[in-house]
Amino acid sequence: MPSRGNTLYSAKADKKDEFYTQYSDIQREVNAYLEYNPDVFKNKTVLLPCDDPEWSNFTKFFAQNFERFGLKKLISTSYANDKKSAIYIQLSLFEKDSIKFDKNKTNSHGKIFILDRDVNKSGKIDINDLKWDYLEGDGDFRSDEVKKLRDESDIIITNPPFSLFREFVSWIIDANKKFLIIGNINAISYKEIFPLIKNNKMWTGNRFNQRVDGKNMTFLVPDSYEMKGTELYIDKDGKKYISVSGTGWFTNLEHGRRHQPLQLMSMEDNIRFSKHKELRNKEYKKYDNYDAIEVPFTDSIPSDYSGIMGVPITFLTKYNPEQFLILGLSASAGYDREIVGIPFLGNRDARPIINGKNTYARIFIRFKETKNENNIEN
Ligand SMILES: C[S@@+](CC[C@H](N)C(=O)[O-])C[C@H]1O[C@@H](n2cnc3c(N)ncnc32)[C@H](O)[C@@H]1O
Repeated sequence: MPSRGNTLYSAKADKKDEFYTQYSDIQREVNAYLEYNPDVFKNKTVLLPCDDPEWSNFTKFFAQNFERFGLKKLISTSYANDKKSAIYIQLSLFEKDSIKFDKNKTNSHGKIFILDRDVNKSGKIDINDLKWDYLEGDGDFRSDEVKKLRDESDIIITNPPFSLFREFVSWIIDANKKFLIIGNINAISYKEIFPLIKNNKMWTGNRFNQRVDGKNMTFLVPDSYEMKGTELYIDKDGKKYISVSGTGWFTNLEHGRRHQPLQLMSMEDNIRFSKHKELRNKEYKKYDNYDAIEVPFTDSIPSDYSGIMGVPITFLTKYNPEQFLILGLSASAGYDREIVGIPFLGNRDARPIINGKNTYARIFIRFKETKNENNIEN
């Protein structure tokens, strides 16, 4: 097991696989799906993989709300301590005091917690009814044992290890499950992820790349996490947190914001009144190598332009599938080069060019054809 202060430990911890989600972030996000569909969890089996059931906020939140959500079954699993890149919590009393405690398994085996009935006969199903056991294996989500749990569930919810994000998404999609997971904006341009977004099989959740109370999404990190940069801070209890820009939720569950149309001005009005100096009293630029206009800000999409438009990747947080069609993505420095769905731009890097200069990575969109005056599909 890696020990605190050891170099190997620090290097591994930098993989950012041990970031822990805050209760309030889970609550705020889940509320958005319940608002859209109060029965979203009704009679559903929810799996929380890549968790640490005895203390994870995901397990706590769903166990506490088991009856309110009408859940059928809650399953959460954790990865063996030996396999983790950093250890946040010491052996919990829950495990140590249990008759099931096994010192030969505690570090090498994953754990499973299940909630499906009123075990303690208190008259309600809640966190006190969670049953636990060691898994046969280490709890790797790719193991046959955890795959079986995936197959029996309806909705998969977690903050997966950042280093395995692509694999984790494929693991969900292969089984055709509903999901709500945390990820970073960079993932949008991965060749495994973008096609899912383009084809409306995955979208950004209610909160994505958005500051709340002046902060990006903030995660608890292990004590040993090296404090670098301004985005790391310690609270009054000495706990360390990192605030990560460009982070948020990805899902295939419906939520209200996804169906709100973007309110936009015409091209003429944008040129006259835009708050962006790049557009005011100027023309929308055209790319040299692709028949589309450059729209450098999502709020400047001209409501009356029927051709193809290149918009920033952050457009996706405002994307309404009834209003727009996504055509493709251009690559840019630091992005995956072989993304499926790039319109062919004729240059080696597949980046849109304006007056001989590369622009930023862009998503190419156009309005859906059947539309009323607000560009909403009839
Ligand atoms: C980003 S943390 C999130 C933990 C927890 N879900 C939360 O949000 O508070 C990802 C977790 O996945 C675990 N993990 C890493 N690789 C894994 C794998 N192959 N299978 C299952 N879990 C894994 C890590 O040990 C870590 O606990």
